Amino acid sequence: MTDGHFVVIPVTVEDVLYCSFSSWYAKFGKYTISDAAIFKPLPKEFVAYLESDGIELPKENKKDSVLFQDAKPNSDNEYSDWEESDAGILKNSEKMNSDPTEHFKSFHNELKETIKSFGSVAPKLNWSAPQDSTWIMTGRNMKCFSTSDLFLLLKSSDYVNHDMYHAFDETTDYDKANPPKFELELILRKWVDINPSTEFRCFVRDRQLIAISQRDLNYYSFLDEIKEEIMEKIFMFFDDVLMGKFDCNSFVFDVYIPKPLKKMYLIDINPFQRSTESLLFSWNELATMKPADDDVDIRFVTEHNSGRFASKAHSQNHVPVEFVNASVDTQSMIDFLKKCKNMELENSDSDDSSNEETERL
Ligand SMILES: Nc1ncnc2c1ncn2[C@@H]1O[C@H](COP(=O)(O)OP(=O)(O)OP(=O)(O)O)[C@@H](O)[C@H]1O
Ligand SMILES: [Mg+2]
Repeated sequence: MTDGHFVVIPVTVEDVLYCSFSSWYAKFGKYTISDAAIFKPLPKEFVAYLESDGIELPKENKKDSVLFQDAKPNSDNEYSDWEESDAGILKNSEKMNSDPTEHFKSFHNELKETIKSFGSVAPKLNWSAPQDSTWIMTGRNMKCFSTSDLFLLLKSSDYVNHDMYHAFDETTDYDKANPPKFELELILRKWVDINPSTEFRCFVRDRQLIAISQRDLNYYSFLDEIKEEIMEKIFMFFDDVLMGKFDCNSFVFDVYIPKPLKKMYLIDINPFQRSTESLLFSWNELATMKPADDDVDIRFVTEHNSGRFASKAHSQNHVPVEFVNASVDTQSMIDFLKKCKNMELENSDSDDSSNEETERL
């Protein structure tokens, strides 16, 4: 029994490292859905670019992105009084006009070549894909056709930040004085259209497959009918492929079983830790449940509980588009500040009127 207590889930630095893409892909790449290019080590100039504030994009194809069309001067956006008074913004503007890829030209060319050969790509770093920034893309997905798309996704994502600085936050054997050495990696997976309704997350604890959850938390009425087939396929893959070759005792793997359920693909392997989304289970449950051998708890969203999971995945990381625009060029910065100013004025007006009302009452 957990008695409502927070159960500690022990995860080691080694467990996390085993789940780094290049580490598991070396063994299980042939079970994935598409080819992937692994860039590792990354040039320090590119890492510095990822770490930097603002979102500067490659100059040559900047205009590919809808966010970066030049603003045409008109009576609404000519703020001549601002320009002179704010030298900082002007300086910033010069910086924005520079091409960030100047500092990692040959690496940029490699990325361009890879995207060209794959047609389009789904990016990710060691552990995380920038799923939190898809709202900024025209297709609302991670599909990148150019390095502009790629950099825009990566630079707008908080999950990238997680991989760079917080990957070992939950580990129990982390030694501050001797932090684990790991190399940041960029993965470009050839894009394949995936139907999220048949993606599943599978939880393995102490080398036993204990739980399976639907990954996309919408209600799909057909899932119940194919439950047995899904379980069988996942069990077979776990027993025949993963168990013998993967070195962690506890981990979480994601699979995709497209209809008509003939094939199964490995999408990812994640650490068995709280920051891995537990979907239709709670982490306390996963840490304490005691299934009999070969008994797995498989859960789908049902007609009756579909409302509970209606919120959009990763939406907690979305920010207004004006905010992102403002960080990339001067004109948008001015527009953004003007909007903020107007909102401030509107608020103070409404505050005044509510005060008036209070007084009137
Ligand atoms: N090659 C691909 N082409 C298109 N989409 C893909 C490809 N590979 C994965 N995806 C999609 O991207 C989603 C996220 O990928 P992935 O699981 O690698 O990211 P993640 O950051 O590890 O996610 P999580 O944080 O949930 O573990 C997958 O659920 C799948 O729908
Ligand atoms: Mg993952």
